[in-house]
Amino acid sequence: PAAAYGTSALAAAWPNERGARPVRAEVPEPFSVRMPLPATLKPVARSSTTDYYVMTARKANAQILRGATTEIYGYDGQFPGPTIRARAGRRVVLAQTNQLDMDTAVHLHGGHTPPASDGFPLDVIAPGKTRIYEYPNRQQATTLWYHDHAHHMEAEHVYRGLHGFYLIEDPAEAELGLPSGEFDVPIMLRDARFADDGSLHFVAEDFQNRTTILTNGRPQPYFPVAARRYRFRLLNGSNLRSFVLRLGAGEEMAQIGTDGGLLGAPATTREIRISPGERVEVVVDFTGREGSQVILADDHAGPVLRFDVGAPAYDASRVPAVLRPLPPLGEPDVVRQMSLGIDPQDFTFKINGKVFDPHRVDTTIRRGDTEVWEVTNGDTFTIPHNFHMHLVQFRVLSRNGRPPVPAEGGWKDTVPLQPGETVRLQATFTGPAGRYVYHCHLIDHSSHAMMATMEIVD
Ligand code: C2O
Ligand code: CU
Repeated sequence: PAAAYGTSALAAAWPNERGARPVRAEVPEPFSVRMPLPATLKPVARSSTTDYYVMTARKANAQILRGATTEIYGYDGQFPGPTIRARAGRRVVLAQTNQLDMDTAVHLHGGHTPPASDGFPLDVIAPGKTRIYEYPNRQQATTLWYHDHAHHMEAEHVYRGLHGFYLIEDPAEAELGLPSGEFDVPIMLRDARFADDGSLHFVAEDFQNRTTILTNGRPQPYFPVAARRYRFRLLNGSNLRSFVLRLGAGEEMAQIGTDGGLLGAPATTREIRISPGERVEVVVDFTGREGSQVILADDHAGPVLRFDVGAPAYDASRVPAVLRPLPPLGEPDVVRQMSLGIDPQDFTFKINGKVFDPHRVDTTIRRGDTEVWEVTNGDTFTIPHNFHMHLVQFRVLSRNGRPPVPAEGGWKDTVPLQPGETVRLQATFTGPAGRYVYHCHLIDHSSHAMMATMEIVD
């Protein structure tokens, strides 16, 4: 009977389905599967300056649901893709082969990357081809991620699994004594919609129906932890969904980092707000909670992960009162306005009244300049957006005229924009000259042209 629905090995592995013939793929019982950790990719070679990696984007069958496998697009066939661990100042050269039957492009989100390697939407890898990406990693320790950026296709490609972690480490961070090694855990949250046969169902703008939350690729997993401190690197890999996460009965967490690295000082919080593309790092202390279960839950979607606290473990980690002081903000050379919204005439997604044209330069920036961008969600349909800039990390000067909350006070590359909100962002464009994009990171919107180009000129 198992063979009749084509997934014999998997179905037979589920003891409670013995003898029954499932007619459809099902989301497993909550907390019945363990949260996987994406594998760390090993370099194929190293030199004194560089780590060399190879990766292949291809279709694969992932075990996500019960009763069927799900076809995904995965870097090395994995869902999420393998994690790259880079060191600040040490170059990564990544050979990406595209074994899918469609163009891809790889973007390192948050990386200070030269234009040829930034995954500009037209710089695609054709099926069967390989492209070499060079990442200088001349930036401080932080949690980045890489994902597809092919013109108009990033939404579907990322949705189908072309996403993975890219972590940068540096000695100054290591010296702080934060939880490390197996106690430093990347967690990607995203939503998805599955058809009855277990396949991923993609319809653009389908925010109502993507109701299954995947935590490192599995629905509502559990994760065994020791009764000690952990560092969690949270990434929202959803196309459209924002999360408001709480731990247990509203317990305190120490937020230590954001998109661009460590905060100046830890910020105590009871909720984590994270919109698509953003990263939030927290330290959670399970000391003294041996034998308990602590649920991480989203205000709307409910539980996303359960921590099962085991025995105490030796813990020399700490959360210092000072993490990485932020430099003073200089005076801007230029101030610009950016407005995001859907055109009520034709329902196109626009920035400053224009749909994306990768051949047009929308913003010309002198290399080295410091700029303030006042970015508004001016949408008349009261749809949330967010705003992501390539190449730089920026600072939030204000949100709706008020100073940013501590969680938003560090280095950022993506910020949420509720309807009517305005954020003022300051960035210094020291990066290499060339063309880059900025866009809404609700990527169903960016795939529908809510994107623009900037050219850094000498
Ligand atoms: Cu994470 Cu242009 O994207
Ligand atoms: Cu948007």
